[in-house]
Amino acid sequence: MSKFLNLVAGTALASTLIAAPALAEKYGLGRPATADEIAAWDLDVAPDGTGLPVGSGDVFTGEEVFADNCAICHGDFAEGVDNWPKLAGGADTLDHEDPLKTVGSYWPYLSTTWDYVNRSMPFGAAQTLSPDDVYAIVAYILYSNDLVDDEFVLSNENFLDVEMPNAGGFIIDDRETSEAHFWTDAPCMENCKDSVEITMRALVLDVTPEEEGAAEAKVEETAAEPVEEAKVEEPAAEPAAEPVVELAALDPEMVKKGEKVFKKCKSCHQVGDSAKNKTGPILNGIVGASAGAVDGFKYSKPMKAAASGGLVWSEDELSAFLSRPKKYMKGTKMSFSGLKKETDIEAVITYLKSY
Ligand code: HEC
Ligand code: HEC
Repeated sequence: MSKFLNLVAGTALASTLIAAPALAEKYGLGRPATADEIAAWDLDVAPDGTGLPVGSGDVFTGEEVFADNCAICHGDFAEGVDNWPKLAGGADTLDHEDPLKTVGSYWPYLSTTWDYVNRSMPFGAAQTLSPDDVYAIVAYILYSNDLVDDEFVLSNENFLDVEMPNAGGFIIDDRETSEAHFWTDAPCMENCKDSVEITMRALVLDVTPEEEGAAEAKVEETAAEPVEEAKVEEPAAEPAAEPVVELAALDPEMVKKGEKVFKKCKSCHQVGDSAKNKTGPILNGIVGASAGAVDGFKYSKPMKAAASGGLVWSEDELSAFLSRPKKYMKGTKMSFSGLKKETDIEAVITYLKSY
């Protein structure tokens, strides 16, 4: 739902700005934003078309612009590459267990597509498209979803004529009234339970398995002893599990922090036993390893050249690469702007060392 949040946040900000002049006077701080400043920032396009600039674009142009700017991640036909989002398909899957929610199958308003593309895409180069290009791209996304034919031209004038298949699929959230009778603030005062007992524990149920082996050992342990006792003893008695011993040389705080930073890499890279090459290569054992050496991964030319030049991913080289990939290596395939904070770089390297 992030696209809807975008719109809501934009609206909230707009009202803050409108209120700002009064506050500025009250506190004697700053100055009111000028109309131009607000206009540059105020990009919202609403479901009724409010905010759409004048312009138009056809499916053919859209196909070209899409191929140049979007297809590398979203596929030539908006069908998605690897784990990048699919923008087309999924018609009639919304009642499936694993529905495919795309612009065509799920989004109720075309304005969201226009706004989203105009505001935030291409990923990493947001707000570089002209309004006509955005109209053309949106026309092409509609075409990829079989919602218009290849002659179609989208403009601010016919924008509201496009019917989105799932337009009727959303309802106003009325739980505040329709479900109000389920909610009560009064605490239980009579015939309540005397005491609350723990009858089963998530760990025993294996709801949150930590590591294979460890969970099994615990099940045996708890089966042999009454649950209460096990509860008291477990944390102290627990010997450090194997991987923890391996990591002992690394600062566990840094590994943890690095795991968080690695979320930025996860859309392209995997680590661990079952890791596979994705958009980027597997990163197991990468710290201290030769560059460009992961089996079966198609590296860019500059990465191959660096590899045959003997580049080794020492911590220094890695940190230079991760801070500005494209600057460090002109023409690298890694479409990532870089990590700004030294500590993030240090942390992610520590994390990678643990694999
Ligand atoms: C480098 C990869 C990349 C490129 C290039 C790119 N996108 Fe995206 N796109 C993403 C990612 C990642 C998301 C999901 C972002 C999120 O959920 O916060 C996304 C999300 C979207 C979505 C919303 C999908 C959904 O169902 O939530 C649309 C629409 C979209 N992109 C359109 C475009 C268009 C149009 C272009 C070209 C002008 C483009 N993208 C270029 C990576 C990319
Ligand atoms: C948008 C996808 C993407 C993201 C995000 C990304 N990478 Fe990459 N990464 C790649 C690609 C593609 C390559 C191969 C580069 C080449 O061949 O030029 C690569 C290469 C690398 C290499 C060199 C691997 C080797 O075998 O020599 C390292 C190290 C690396 N990435 C680390 C990271 C880290 C750490 C992050 C997160 C901070 C990250 N990458 C984020 C796509 C990505």
